[in-house]
Amino acid sequence: MNAMEINKMIGAVLGTVFAILTISILSDAIFDRPAPEKPGYVLAGGEAGGGEAGGGEAGGAAAAGPEDIKALLANANIEAGATVFKKCTSCHTAEKGGANKVGPNLFGVIGRGVGTHEGFSYSAAMKEYGAGKSWDYDALNAFLFAPKGAVKGTAMGFAGVKKTDERANLVAYLRSLADTPVPLP
Ligand code: HEC
Repeated sequence: MNAMEINKMIGAVLGTVFAILTISILSDAIFDRPAPEKPGYVLAGGEAGGGEAGGGEAGGAAAAGPEDIKALLANANIEAGATVFKKCTSCHTAEKGGANKVGPNLFGVIGRGVGTHEGFSYSAAMKEYGAGKSWDYDALNAFLFAPKGAVKGTAMGFAGVKKTDERANLVAYLRSLADTPVPLP
């Protein structure tokens, strides 16, 4: 490449930059964008991302939270739940006496004390959340909908099962993982 060619190239690059600058200055002048009076978005239904805390008393305003699954459990499909559970098996075993992997073994988890499975080292967040609590249907529903929303700082790296029927089937499957399944709600 000789000096002429290099000069031409630099010229072409500068020309492009100049053209882009001109266009952007012109378009700013043509499309005058007024600043919004209130920056950001106002969400209908009150606080955004409130998670569980509000409990949804305010007439269905809790669009961000999980729908209740208790009424669906009696007719839930345990086999479909076992299929949903495939999302969990990279980290959890389900059979009695199964090993702890990235997460604790889940046999008999419903009714079990939160964060109490032998030999598993739970996060501080889970221990704090679980002090004195057992996994019941409501707690599991919230946790499986959004693990990090229900237990802030949990070590469970999983986005959650957002579909209500899938969650109901999954929880029905978890319930079946027990010598004597806890009663349906
Ligand atoms: C990427 C790995 C991973 C995946 C995927 C995962 N989990 Fe977990 N799970 C964990 C870890 C780690 C913990 C312990 C969390 C802590 O200590 O904060 C946990 C904890 C739990 C607990 C609490 C158990 C106890 O003894 O208190 C339940 C219930 C649970 N997981 C269910 C599920 C279900 C159901 C799925 C699939 C829908 C799933 N997890 C997917 C890693 C995972």
